[in-house]
Amino acid sequence: MNNIIENKNGILYFDGCNTLELVKKYGTPLYVMSETDIVDRFNQLKECFVNKYPNTRVAYASKAFCTVAMYQVCKREGTCIDVVSGGELYTAIKAEYPPERIEFNGNNKLRSEIELAVEYGIGRIIVDGLQELSIIEDVCKEKNKRVKILYRITPGVKSSSHDYIVTGKKDSKFGIPLDDDVIMKHVKDAIDSEWVDFLGFHYHVGSQLFDNESHLKATKITLDLIKKVKEKYDYNIREINLGGGFGVKYTDEVRKPYEYFITPMMEMINDYYKELGVELPAVVIEPGRSIVAEAGISLYTIGSTKEIRDVRKYVSVDGGMPDNIRPALYQAEYDGVVANKLNEEKNDKVSVCGKCCESGDILIKDIDITSTAKAGDVFAIFSTGAYGYSMASNYNGNPIPAVVMVKDGESELIVKAQSYEEMICNQLTAKKLI
Ligand SMILES: Cc1ncc(COP(=O)(O)O)c(C=O)c1O
Repeated sequence: MNNIIENKNGILYFDGCNTLELVKKYGTPLYVMSETDIVDRFNQLKECFVNKYPNTRVAYASKAFCTVAMYQVCKREGTCIDVVSGGELYTAIKAEYPPERIEFNGNNKLRSEIELAVEYGIGRIIVDGLQELSIIEDVCKEKNKRVKILYRITPGVKSSSHDYIVTGKKDSKFGIPLDDDVIMKHVKDAIDSEWVDFLGFHYHVGSQLFDNESHLKATKITLDLIKKVKEKYDYNIREINLGGGFGVKYTDEVRKPYEYFITPMMEMINDYYKELGVELPAVVIEPGRSIVAEAGISLYTIGSTKEIRDVRKYVSVDGGMPDNIRPALYQAEYDGVVANKLNEEKNDKVSVCGKCCESGDILIKDIDITSTAKAGDVFAIFSTGAYGYSMASNYNGNPIPAVVMVKDGESELIVKAQSYEEMICNQLTAKKLI
């Protein structure tokens, strides 16, 4: 538990807010995001990266938690953001995000998304292949605008994380394979293009990593590629994007400080460029999860409980896989507490389950909580700030819960809870077929 999580007389406080009061005011299920924790992460990155090395930037990978208010925080903190769809870009535009501080990733960007990006004048497009390059050129020509691009490469390193969040291995849908003829053709076409300014390379090896080995291997591979480009085309690569992937604490994990990943990568880049004898490139990192995961908790109201003698006890809450798909999607594990009974002994092993008609709708499989937990108590799950709200769905007709931002004992609603009416507002009554 870090210092935004407190126990005051047996009640859970989060960033100075009494969670029971939050529940009374905003209802459940409820996502609660700590602005203090988010800003603290950005400050850690400023200290060990942005303020330490010249020409460096943080681009928050906003897929982890994308809302207008989150973009407002990023804007105020002076960071860049990474978006991966027209929808995320649209949200950023609504937050009046400075266009030059937006970078656009994705393995199959739609023409309409590229049009929106070029129209808004975003800072970088991270291009995933030649087909995308030709769409970009076409759009730029039409709008008579040039864009800065990087190529996302597949460094071919396998990192140790869940298979669904490992992205840098060779057999991946992301990035350009590094076979010489393939990558060099991409580079040549980008250098020759009158519509793009080719800055450099991007990689992202995977997510929730605690070992810097794959980052270091990918950096070395990227630097070798940069050297090849210099030798073959006498072209200086001016920007490298090292992706994100820095692991967070969900249950027993021990979080590594950002320096553990960043310092050796920066040393490698600095040494290499000194040897090449050209000006140091801009270096960008793209953390998502590590900025917001631990800054978020989810609050639920406990409903029914079921005890199967000698087998298991189920404690049901009023949310589940629609507001947090991660346990069902990749067996993600979480920690939680009964927020109004923190001082009671944890003497009962239970499974905390959601309310969906799916046996797999289990939020926490085995957890020790107080045996007095009952309907009406509040259950809090920690570290749900990343890929919770952003992956939420209306499955089983459950409206998407509200999101509240908290800071030093104050709270503000940043996403309203969906009503049933809003949930089905795009549905039409058929008139011809029925
Ligand atoms: C291209 C890219 N950059 C950055 C990230 C952020 O990774 P993380 O949330 O692990 O920091 C992701 C996440 O999947 C990604 O796909």
